[in-house]
Amino acid sequence: LTGPPACPLVVLVGPMGSGKSTVGELLAGRLGVPYRDTDADIVAAEGREISEIFVSDGEDRFRELERAAVRAAVTGHGGVLSLGGGAILDESTRALLSGLPVVYLSLEVDEAVRRTGLNQARPLLAVNPRRQWRELMDARRHLYTEVARAVVATDERTPDEVADAILDAL
Ligand code: S3P
Repeated sequence: LTGPPACPLVVLVGPMGSGKSTVGELLAGRLGVPYRDTDADIVAAEGREISEIFVSDGEDRFRELERAAVRAAVTGHGGVLSLGGGAILDESTRALLSGLPVVYLSLEVDEAVRRTGLNQARPLLAVNPRRQWRELMDARRHLYTEVARAVVATDERTPDEVADAILDAL
């Protein structure tokens, strides 16, 4: 016998450095449910780091892998789920989120630059972080808002406070 497919209790979206992993793990621990992260699923499935996938195969290929990872996670996971910061760029990935309790962890550009700095492990920030951050947020803000049921600002909050705000918002 099989029951209905599992559905995530919370899906966290938002830019790099918004605390999706930190807050996601914290929240899952508090709720006593599993935590899952599509970036980690992709690294495990591919056996290589995300920066390597970007360099060898390109961003488009990464987004395809990410779409498959999100599809698997939203149908097979009943806990807290975090997506990579750019997952919302892909229209099919956005469609997979429809009807789910998606929370957008938002972050101002200044705070994003402070938190992430020049980061070789994050291929989208490896050259000029402030300019790249501004462009990235201008291109993405409306997409985060489009998929989200609630927005939680993370700028002046600790991970514990962000977790509280998520529970209040849902
Ligand atoms: C990306 C964010 C990263 C990772 C990849 C691309 C993005 O995830 O998926 O480097 O496009 O914003 P995090 O948001 O978990 O750092």
